[in-house]
Amino acid sequence: MLKVSNIYPILLLFWGQCVLPQEAPPFLDKFCILCNNSCEDGPNFHRWIVSEQVVAPDNFEQVGKVINGQFPGPTITIGTFQHLVVLVENRLSVPLTIHWHGLHQDRTVAADGAGFVTQADIPPNGKYTYCMFIEDEPGTHMYHAHTDIDIIWIHGALIVKDNNPPIWAKTRDAGKYHYDEERLLILEQLYHEPVERFVQSLTTAGVPRPATQSLMINGQSFGVWPTGNSNAEGYSLISVQRMKTYRFRIINLSSELMFRFEIEDHSMTVIEMDGIICVQSQS
Ligand SMILES: *[C@@H]1O[C@H](CO)[C@@H](O)[C@H](O)[C@H]1NC(C)=O
Ligand SMILES: *[C@@H]1O[C@H](CO)[C@@H](O)[C@H](O)[C@H]1NC(C)=O
Repeated sequence: MLKVSNIYPILLLFWGQCVLPQEAPPFLDKFCILCNNSCEDGPNFHRWIVSEQVVAPDNFEQVGKVINGQFPGPTITIGTFQHLVVLVENRLSVPLTIHWHGLHQDRTVAADGAGFVTQADIPPNGKYTYCMFIEDEPGTHMYHAHTDIDIIWIHGALIVKDNNPPIWAKTRDAGKYHYDEERLLILEQLYHEPVERFVQSLTTAGVPRPATQSLMINGQSFGVWPTGNSNAEGYSLISVQRMKTYRFRIINLSSELMFRFEIEDHSMTVIEMDGIICVQSQS
């Protein structure tokens, strides 16, 4: 019989090499996607190219950082107890790592994305495959760059649906709180100066911190600027229907400011935070 301690290092050696161990103990199954020839075709495989691009989220044209051409980055939707594989190609001129905020990364620490702690930064033109297993952590999560202050640009939503058996799920998450539909709200702030300038302000005396220029929802806002008016789509529009109940998945992707969120003449019940189902609290 193979002992776990024997298998583990072997699996590590074969990361990314697609060798499927035939008789891995069940709990090691979570690693198998790493060794599965077809993992790159699976529903939870994502190939991301992170690059610079001229964007104008708030109608001010500037060079931003995008994932597959998108800002905010693509939303990942996945269920509990599933493998998630994200191949990140860094086409920026600076190093990059991506952190999956709040995910436990039990035995997949190499996917945690803390540069020079759990992995070396992905160098310009380099790539890295984040292989992880989504535990019993349903809820609204997010991912963001973990290098410099690149979180300003490189971030997005990671939504984990509850795949627990119905009886169990009923007492928690969606089962406990009825809602008709859901909407995603990513709250963000935007500067009109490059990230490098922000970093300088933190490391060099006398360099002022760039000012926040726009607060945005889902990467959109609208301003009239002295220069750079261009192709912004305006405010993000969240449409809802009267008498329906909505689950708002609200993500704080601010880089320094604090947000206060409310909807006029409506009450909200907090049902989950950071993958933990909450005791009901009205606000
Ligand atoms: C390997 O991939 C196949 C096809 O996508 C899938 O059916 C199978 O469950 C995967 N095996 C593991 C151990 O993840
Ligand atoms: C949101 O994130 C920012 C930056 O990390 C933080 O300062 C703020 O306290 C967070 N929370 C809220 C409720 O805005």
